[in-house]
Amino acid sequence: MPKLNSLQKKLPLTVKKERDAVVLVNQLLLPGALKFIRLTTYHEAIKAIKKMNVRGAQAIGATGAGGIFLASLEYRGSDVRKMISFLRQAGRQIMKARPTARNLAWGVEQMLKIAQGANVKIIRQKIDRAYQDLLQSEVKNNLLIGKYGASLIKDGDHIETHCNAGSLSAIWFGTATAPMYTAHLEGKKIKVLVDETRPWFQGSRLTAWEMSRANIPYHINIDSANAFLMSHKMVDLIIVGADRITKNGDTANKIGTCALAMVAKNYNIPFYVAAVSATIDFSLNSGKEIRIEDRDDEEVIADVSYWHKSVAPKDAKAYNPVFDVTPAKFISGIITEYGILKPSEIKGLEKKIRREEKGNLVL
Ligand code: MRU
Repeated sequence: MPKLNSLQKKLPLTVKKERDAVVLVNQLLLPGALKFIRLTTYHEAIKAIKKMNVRGAQAIGATGAGGIFLASLEYRGSDVRKMISFLRQAGRQIMKARPTARNLAWGVEQMLKIAQGANVKIIRQKIDRAYQDLLQSEVKNNLLIGKYGASLIKDGDHIETHCNAGSLSAIWFGTATAPMYTAHLEGKKIKVLVDETRPWFQGSRLTAWEMSRANIPYHINIDSANAFLMSHKMVDLIIVGADRITKNGDTANKIGTCALAMVAKNYNIPFYVAAVSATIDFSLNSGKEIRIEDRDDEEVIADVSYWHKSVAPKDAKAYNPVFDVTPAKFISGIITEYGILKPSEIKGLEKKIRREEKGNLVL
């Protein structure tokens, strides 16, 4: 693709493997500073996911897989069985770090699946190679999502997105942003409307940072401006990411996504989800079964930068569910590395991709 190299210079790899470490963009410091953290133990991987130094479904999946890679280096013994049980217990702990994104368990499972071999050294080498392959193939998938998704974008389109399903939420290039980057690199003049995404501001802190680095025109809007923007014909298309997609096409994504989709339906604005197949949970029939992460009140009521003081009374309590589920009926299509699917076609993907999730592992 033309100019892909120029984008590579502007957007760093969010998750990178080194010989004996995993290096992450420290997302807590953005947009103020672009700094990296170097993980050398699986406990550090868990901490980075819990503290949200790394966030976004694909990025935490890659970090979870990286945790197993690090655990394989940490194991000091020479007994294969003990090594595998050490890796499995590490996997169980990593998977608990955050509940909603399917990719986290997927990343761990991919590593544990190949953790077999005649001796510890061979297992370590297999994991090393598999981890590098996983990172590379996830980027290839995102480039495919970009190719398919860009076909939906017309020259001059205003595209709205929620949260950050960008390069920072992935290894590189992103999911929801992939069609935007591709369209931009193809020379289409687009504008991106970035929902700020309370309470963590993944939109205004992270997606806006990416747009700015990539020289894509953008505006930030508060989350509650969506109906206004759509009713004033300021939005042509919506593309969001996903944290978990169930067999029937229901999609969990950052809180506020469902409301966005409902308003879009009202104004007949196409609403697309972009996600890699690792986000699909074929063990769940519908979104009702998805576990939604509930986070600290403090995230909602603490200081926000403009006011420099608390935005609520001291005794305030808050509800802070951080994802919601958009029913399939509000979704125009799901952009995957296999093409653009109707939500009802998600189920059929299971056989095709032969994920072999069941029966591989007993954790
Ligand atoms: O809480 P986060 O920031 O880890 O939330 C995940 C997300 O960034 C989104 O829901 C996103 O839109 C999908 S991530 C590919």
